This record gives sequence, structure tokens and C-alpha cells, in this order.
Amino acid sequence: MTVTEPGFAGRTERLASPATIAMAVRARALRAQGHQVLSLALGEPDFATPPAVIEAAHRAALDGQTKYPPVDGTPALKAAIARKFARENGLTYAPAELMVSNGGKQVIFNAFMATIDAGDEIVIPAPYWVSYPLAARLFGGVPVFADCREEDGFRLSAAALEAAITPRTRWVVLNFPSNPTGAVMTLADLEAIADVLRRHPRIWILSDEIYEHLVFDGARHHSIAAVAPDLTSRVLTLNGVSKSYAMTGWRVGYAGGPERLIRMMTRVQGNATSGVCSISQAAAAAALDGPAELIAEMRDTYARRRTMVVEALRAIPGVTCAMPQGAFYAYPGIAACLGRTSRGGRMLTTDEDFALALLDEQHVACVHGSAFGKGPYLRLSCATDDETLREACARIAAFVDGLV
Ligand SMILES: Cc1ncc(COP(=O)(O)O)c(C=O)c1O
Repeated sequence: MTVTEPGFAGRTERLASPATIAMAVRARALRAQGHQVLSLALGEPDFATPPAVIEAAHRAALDGQTKYPPVDGTPALKAAIARKFARENGLTYAPAELMVSNGGKQVIFNAFMATIDAGDEIVIPAPYWVSYPLAARLFGGVPVFADCREEDGFRLSAAALEAAITPRTRWVVLNFPSNPTGAVMTLADLEAIADVLRRHPRIWILSDEIYEHLVFDGARHHSIAAVAPDLTSRVLTLNGVSKSYAMTGWRVGYAGGPERLIRMMTRVQGNATSGVCSISQAAAAAALDGPAELIAEMRDTYARRRTMVVEALRAIPGVTCAMPQGAFYAYPGIAACLGRTSRGGRMLTTDEDFALALLDEQHVACVHGSAFGKGPYLRLSCATDDETLREACARIAAFVDGLV
């Protein structure tokens, strides 16, 4: 008799573990061996959740907000989200056009599960946040990448978008300010993108605006649904409290979009996880209605660190670095470092070789750009303290200095 083991679905084979997590795991293993590892791999704010938000959660728990919440979000949080969209984005959403999910990540999962059939194409500007292509593939979708060039500040051009669209395109993803490059689209950029999308009326548009508050040097964030109101019946505007309010662990993301799409996404979520933790929802409502100064303080800190890191990187021979206008990442180019050998004897053929050797030899964890669809670059998260960032840049300089 043949002995076989229980197997796995084909879709989980396609669901590779993101490189960001893989790097963090490797860094943790080195730390466990007693090394002082500096981690610039994860996009997690180093600030604490504002105390007033934590108090609101405490009050909600004591008040008995401990029962199953509605699948699409509590009325109180949805009202706070509607106020936020009106105040900050110039967007008007009725309660039936809003839903709350377990982080922005579940918004994407719900939306793709509700709309993608096998073979549908999802246009994603590259470099991209790793979860978009992974989620698309999970449902049989085919990611198609639109190249964002360094010379354009990694912004998406109308020409690159147009070239990526085919009759099979189901979604176009926009993520500005961008993870991983920090690129911010100007009003004129978005108007040109809207012109392209108008010519393709059967395409859904996902605008992931989770980094909207983190824009620097006077740059302004614009929502595509506000720039092109005629497209709103196809736009899903995604946001969340993770990045703007240092609330990654609370797991609250949300979206505004056309009622029929929100209804189908709610159906997906109702069959998977139901409503988001009632206490987290009370906390998120307090965050959204809270003082804007807290966000401004964090933004100014990220801006200062970004300048410090970019200047330190630019001083390293063989490393280039665009000045990001948003988010909290730097995306240095390392083309001139490839084809060389590290002090530890490692031949660096790809940016992944560079990132792995840097971790093993200098104990600095970052993620190679090709994991985000564009190499040879590195993504360094600036969401950590000044001292760590300064020391990490010094170690990168020492690593590059040792290349022969
Ligand atoms: C571009 C982007 N969108 C969405 C998210 C989702 O964040 P969360 O699920 O914590 O809301 C992240 C997190 O890293 C992100 O970088």
C-alpha cells in the first residue's frame, strides 16, 4: 500500500512568505546567537499608541463593548471614518459605503476575493508592497507590473499605466505615498492617471492611502476619488490607523467605496473573521477624532530621520539615493556594488546577495529591492530611533568600503 501524507491546496503554494518577514526571522535568529542586530527591515512605527486612544479602549471594555460587533464596523467608528474622509480627503461616504477590517491587509483580501476570477490581471506599480501580488495570486489573479522609474522619483506615469492595461485587467492598484519608495503623486500626475482610467471603465481602482499623513517638504497627498469624482463608483479608498497613529497591533483598517463592492466585501469578511475587535474599533474612533498635532509630530520626526539617512547613504561611494517625499523608507540604489566580493568572501551578484551578506557580516537587517519588484536597491525602514539609524548607516558604509 502506498503511504501518502495529507497535502496542501495549490493556492497556498503560490502564497510565498513575504521577504520582509523572512529577513526579520533571520535577524531574530542572529540576535538569539548574541549578535547586536540593527533591524531596518519592518515597516512598523517605533512610537507608542497615544495614551488617549488606550484610555478609550479601556473605557469601551468597562462599558461592556465586549460583544460581537457588526461585520462591517461599529456605527461609532464608521461615523468617525466618514468624518475623517470628509475632513481630510474631501470625500463623502454614506455608512453603507464604508467598512472596517482587520487592518488594511484584510481590506485588500476582501476586495480581491470578492472580485478576482482566475486569469484576471491586477496592475501594480513597481516597486510595490509585497502583499498586493501575493493576495492577487491567492485568488488566481495575475499581477502585471507598471514600472516606476527612479528618474521620475518612482512616481507612476500615465504611459506606464496605459501600457500595463489589457482587456483582462480587473484592478489597478495605486499606493502613494509608496511603500517601498516613499514616492508621492502630484495633482497633475493623478489627473493624468485618471484620464487613462476613464478610457477603461471596466476596471476597479484600489487607492491604498495608508501613508497619507506622512508627506514631507510641503508635498500634499491627494485622493484619486477626490481628484476624479467621476471615477468614485469604481474606486476603493483604503486607509487604516496602523501607520498614522502607531497602532499596528490593534488591527484596524477601513475602506470607502461603492455600496455594491462594500456589500460583497462584507459578505467575504462575514464568512471569514466577522467584525473587527470591538475594543480596537473604539480605540480607532478615538484616534481618528483625536488631535492632529500628534500626527504632525510623528511626521516631522520621520522627515528628519529620512534626511539624515539619505544624506549618510549618499556619502557612501557606489550608493545612490532618491529623497523620498513620503512614508518612512529610504530606497537606495546599489548597482555599483554588485559584481564585487564582500570582506567575508561573499560574491555579490544580486541585491539579495548584498542584503544577506550585510546582515551576516555587519548585522544590519534590511530588505532587497527585488523583493518589491525592482532591483538592485535596498529598502531601509526609518521607523526606528536616530542612534540605530546612524549606526546602521555607518555599518553599511563599512560593508561597502570592504568590497573588492
Ligand atoms: C502600503 C501598505 N498598505 C497597507 C498596509 C497594511 O497595514 P495594516 O494591515 O496594518 O493596516 C501596509 C503595512 O505594511 C502597507 O505598507
